[in-house]
Amino acid sequence: MTVRPWSPTSVRPRAAVAQLPAYVPGARTSGGDQHKLSSNENPFAPLDSVREAVAAAAGQLNRYPDMFAGELVEALAARHGVGPESVVAGCGSVAVLGHVLQAFCEPGGQVVSAWRSFEAYPILVGLQGAEHVRVPVDAEGRHDLPGMAEAVTPTTDAVIVCSPNNPTGPAVHHEELATLLGSVPESVPVVLDEAYLEFVRDPAVADGDRLLAEHPNLVLLRTFSKAYGLAALRVGYAVAHPEIAQAVRTSSTPFGVNHLAQVAALASLEAERELAARVDEVVAERGRLVTGLRAQGWTVPDPQGNFVWLGLGGRTLDLARDAAEHGVLVRPFAGEGMRISVGTPEATEAVLELTRAWKAVDALH
Ligand SMILES: Cc1ncc(COP(=O)(O)O)c(C=O)c1O
Repeated sequence: MTVRPWSPTSVRPRAAVAQLPAYVPGARTSGGDQHKLSSNENPFAPLDSVREAVAAAAGQLNRYPDMFAGELVEALAARHGVGPESVVAGCGSVAVLGHVLQAFCEPGGQVVSAWRSFEAYPILVGLQGAEHVRVPVDAEGRHDLPGMAEAVTPTTDAVIVCSPNNPTGPAVHHEELATLLGSVPESVPVVLDEAYLEFVRDPAVADGDRLLAEHPNLVLLRTFSKAYGLAALRVGYAVAHPEIAQAVRTSSTPFGVNHLAQVAALASLEAERELAARVDEVVAERGRLVTGLRAQGWTVPDPQGNFVWLGLGGRTLDLARDAAEHGVLVRPFAGEGMRISVGTPEATEAVLELTRAWKAVDALH
């Protein structure tokens, strides 16, 4: 079939959209026996109980889903010790964050976050026509929370804290976040993006639920994509003060959580013990990976998510290419470093083999 040629269009996107960087998704496998360590996915296939629930729900594909995912929202609310009016589910936590910003950011306003952090932040902030104020993470890849507090001005419409931080790894500590919340005006929402919380083993990690009880401007963001292994189905949620949650709900895409996602998320909550055991395995594998890397002489910031960070600077893209040629797909950030997701024991071996070879080349120079 021939493809119709287009003549140029004079339709122009808003300036805020035209200037946005494109989201770079993690590299996808081209089949074969590649290790896909580029998207911080859960390496385990879905549980049978979850698959069966999804398969059974496929019989209702002709019906719209429950618009606000009522059953799921109630189950989540009970877990967080809040009423269902405080929980808003959406098409992945990235969409929920977009709805939060849509609800609270004025064009020309500012949103403060750490940087480098999750690459969706500049896009979501930019889409609102807001300015993204980036406070550099420190040498250990940690948020500079005092620096972020100082960056808050009367035009700040939101603050985003990513714990553990994607892609550098460390978790934000309870006391430092409490201090930040004590200094940010109560009228400014502070979003705590806890996409990887289940993998955290740092005992000092911020307890979002406890902080939410004390700071009604806190918004917790969670996802079923990582620890629960449902990345393909797209379901995440926010927990917040009911009035904040209502504004986020109003900004949300109608029917944003599809029926299969709702069913799978509910089935996953019922299988939490099995899923937690898998998370423990990923955490153990993370331990093997980071111990191996440090033994080879690499400096690795404290990894509290299901990924590790190698600050490779100007060599990043070359080494990512080399990794891909050896069947290991990673997520490079040009000129900065490489994020490597934790996968199977075989994937850990493949990574350590590569990094050993890179160190050996270093030693020759
Ligand atoms: C920090 C952070 N927040 C949110 C998300 C998005 O999760 P979801 O799949 O729920 O949209 C990711 C995904 O990589 C992430 O790294």
